[in-house]
Amino acid sequence: MVLERWLAEVVATHGLTAIRDPAEARRVLLDDALRALPLVAREEGAVVDVGSGGGTPGIPLAASLPEREVTLLEAERRKCAFLERWTSELPNLSVVWGRAEEQPLETFGVAVAKALAQPPTAAEWCLPLVREGGAVVLWVGPTAELDRLSDVAERLAARVESSAGGLVVLRKTGPTPPGFPRRTGVAKKRPLA
Ligand SMILES: C[S@@+](CC[C@H](N)C(=O)[O-])C[C@H]1O[C@@H](n2cnc3c(N)ncnc32)[C@H](O)[C@@H]1O
Repeated sequence: MVLERWLAEVVATHGLTAIRDPAEARRVLLDDALRALPLVAREEGAVVDVGSGGGTPGIPLAASLPEREVTLLEAERRKCAFLERWTSELPNLSVVWGRAEEQPLETFGVAVAKALAQPPTAAEWCLPLVREGGAVVLWVGPTAELDRLSDVAERLAARVESSAGGLVVLRKTGPTPPGFPRRTGVAKKRPLA
């Protein structure tokens, strides 16, 4: 099965993950990614995985939702070369080498991001990629400050729709406001909240 081979190769390929234990890799890279499957499946439109790294959560989601277009967006070229290898096995998968802040706006129905950046920065990078009515799903971890995330969402014409089990859903309620995305790197250096 493609996901089994992908998992083994992520662990075996230098520079994609620090995880070496196969059971831990399955838990963190595969099982944790698939927790978002119901959230993504209920949305419409193409999916983008922002900062896909070795391909999670995008590759598990693409394999599970073969009728949905899934784009893996990744800033590091070397990682993109690894990701490209899986597009021949998953026809709904494509790879874009680039930064979130430099992409065409409002192209996707859903953006997902796992371990991309601090939640306020990840939200600022992801929300402009999603069209009005669409959603962003962030893996935020147990210590995420929802008030800060809510402030950022509001600045970007979105709101926190739900938060459970370390997964936050942001709903885009209007068009991307003028001034966003900010210049490359600014969202990380000077978070909105
Ligand atoms: C810590 S890794 C997480 C990778 C994967 N999502 C995971 O959970 O294993 C973060 C990835 O995001 C990429 N990245 C960081 N900033 C980015 C940006 N602005 N646009 C696109 N990719 C970015 C990095 O190159 C890196 O591969």
